[in-house]
Order: sequence, then structure tokens, then C-alpha cells
Amino acid sequence: MTTRQIIIEEMTPGHLDGAVELSRQVEWPHRREDWELAQSVSRGIVALEEERVVATIMMTPYGDNAAAINMVIVDAAMRGRGLGRKMMEEALAKAGERTCCLTATREGLPLYEKLGFVTTGEIVQHQGEALAVSAPARVYWAESGDFARLEVLDREAFGHDRSALMKRLFERAKFTVIRDEGDIQAFSAIRPFGRGLVIGPVVARNGAEAKALIDFLLAHHQGKFVRVDTDVSTDLAEWLTGRGLAHVGGGITMRRSIVTHKESKPAHHRTYALVSQALG
Ligand SMILES: CC(C)(COP(=O)(O)OP(=O)(O)OC[C@H]1O[C@@H](n2cnc3c(N)ncnc32)[C@H](O)[C@@H]1OP(=O)(O)O)[C@@H](O)C(=O)NCCC(=O)NCCS
Repeated sequence: MTTRQIIIEEMTPGHLDGAVELSRQVEWPHRREDWELAQSVSRGIVALEEERVVATIMMTPYGDNAAAINMVIVDAAMRGRGLGRKMMEEALAKAGERTCCLTATREGLPLYEKLGFVTTGEIVQHQGEALAVSAPARVYWAESGDFARLEVLDREAFGHDRSALMKRLFERAKFTVIRDEGDIQAFSAIRPFGRGLVIGPVVARNGAEAKALIDFLLAHHQGKFVRVDTDVSTDLAEWLTGRGLAHVGGGITMRRSIVTHKESKPAHHRTYALVSQALG
């Protein structure tokens, strides 16, 4: 058997079809558009064997201090030979001194632990057909003039600057808001993703607001296939199941810090649903 040469290079839009094929192999639902969104805000890397994409990874910078590592896939036939570790090392080098976060599958966990990532929590994935619910009265569709405020709220809840990602979402997602004395205090978004639609981010001051935002979107998308990813600590999981969105999986959240960055101020808002497991 001959061992073919593996070339590692920056991911470009020309690699996206190969990346989609790889994610289909591991039964991830990502469409080309979902890869494109991640790629447009990330520094991606691919491994090529005779121009075929055999491994992918992305480093998504969130300001100077943080990054998400995501879309880590090695072709099934190439696993167990150090390629996953090599891709991680390349991505971590691009991240520099940023604190890196990721959502790990069971398969990825040992690799990440070996590279110094520690477990911080757990994400649960809920999905299904949106049931008939009534739309809460105090939720409204966002207007284009609201976007600057939504970016501020996302940064406060997430703890890092995701303005590049939010700008992309403004082009692709529909946003809803809750106003309090004229000021937006909570918001949610829905966009096409994978097999249907995904709700996220959902940023709110409390669980009641988060539920109202999600209910508004479910009410407007009755019968559609909808997915929501949430941290177990939000306590939304049981409620989502009651809304017809079954628990179908999830992942372990992990973090790796090599320098201590200044802590952000305690937030009045939190993220109740993720943009995606990949992007946080
Ligand atoms: C996770 C994945 C990327 C790993 O790729 P890979 O090329 O097989 O990884 P490597 O060969 O570099 O192995 C990585 C390390 O993990 C270790 N490892 C792998 N599985 C392990 C296990 N079950 N128990 C303990 N260690 C394990 C390896 O020994 C290796 O350690 P070393 O570098 O110290 O020798 C690959 O399995 C994959 O694509 N899985 C499907 C998609 C997925 O789940 N991706 C992760 C998303 S978060």
C-alpha cells in the first residue's frame, strides 16, 4: 500500500464542497451555506490528499482574547494516525494567546484533553416539528435600526466580541426583540440550518423572557423542523421537550487558556440558545 502525501493549507471557498462531503460522512447536518457562514468569520484549515478534503478545522476569533475551535473532522479512513492532533495544533497556533472554547463529541474528547482543554459544561440539542403555540404579546420582530443594540447585548451575554458573526447573522436570520421602557432587553434569531431551522442566539435576562422569545418563533413556524442548542445550566431542556423538541444529543463544552485575560463584568444577560454548537 502506498501512503499518499497530505497537504495542509488555509481553507478557501473552493474547499467547501469537499468539507460538506466530510461532514455528511460523520452525519452532521451542515449544508454548504452553513459551512460558508462559519468560514466567512473564521480562519479555516484543510488537509488534502490529492486535492480531496480529508480533514477540516476552523478557528473563529472573537476579539483579541477568545476563539471557538470548530468543524474538527478527519476522514474515517485516516483516523488514528495523528492527523486530528496536527489539525488542532495548527488551529491553536492561529489562535495565539486567545482562550479557546469548543463543544466536544465523545470521539473528540480524548484529543482535546491531551491538548490541555478542560470541561466547563454540557450542551443539549433539542429538535423536532414546532407545535402550535400562541405568540406571546410582548415579543416583536426586530427592525434594522435595532442591530447595533443586539450586538451589544450579545457581547454582554457571551463575554466576547462576536460582531463579525452577528453581522453575518443579520443578513441571514430573522430577529425578534423584547423591549422594556423603550430599550431592547432581550432578543432571539431564527435561520435556515441543516435539516430545517435553528433558533439562536437567544439572549435574555431570565428564563421567562427566553421562553417567550422561543415561543414567538415557534408560533410563526408551526410544523417546521426546528432545532435549539442550549447549555444544560439554563434549565430550558425539559421545557423544550414539552414544546415537541426532543432531546437528541449534545456535547461537552471545553476551554483552554494559556494566559489569564481580564474577566468581563458580571452580565445582566445570558445566552439561552447557541448560534450553533460550533460557534457557541
Ligand atoms: C476526533 C477526531 C477528529 C480525531 O482525529 P484523529 O485523526 O483520529 O486523531 P489523532 O489520530 O490525532 O488522535 C488524537 C489523540 O487522541 C487519542 N485518542 C483517540 N481516541 C482515544 C480514546 N478513545 N481514548 C484515549 N485516547 C484517544 C489518540 O491516541 C491521540 O493521542 P496522541 O496524539 O497523544 O497519540 C476524529 O475521530 C473524527 O473526525 N471524529 C468524527 C468527528 C468528530 O467527532 N469530531 C470532533 C468534533 S468536536
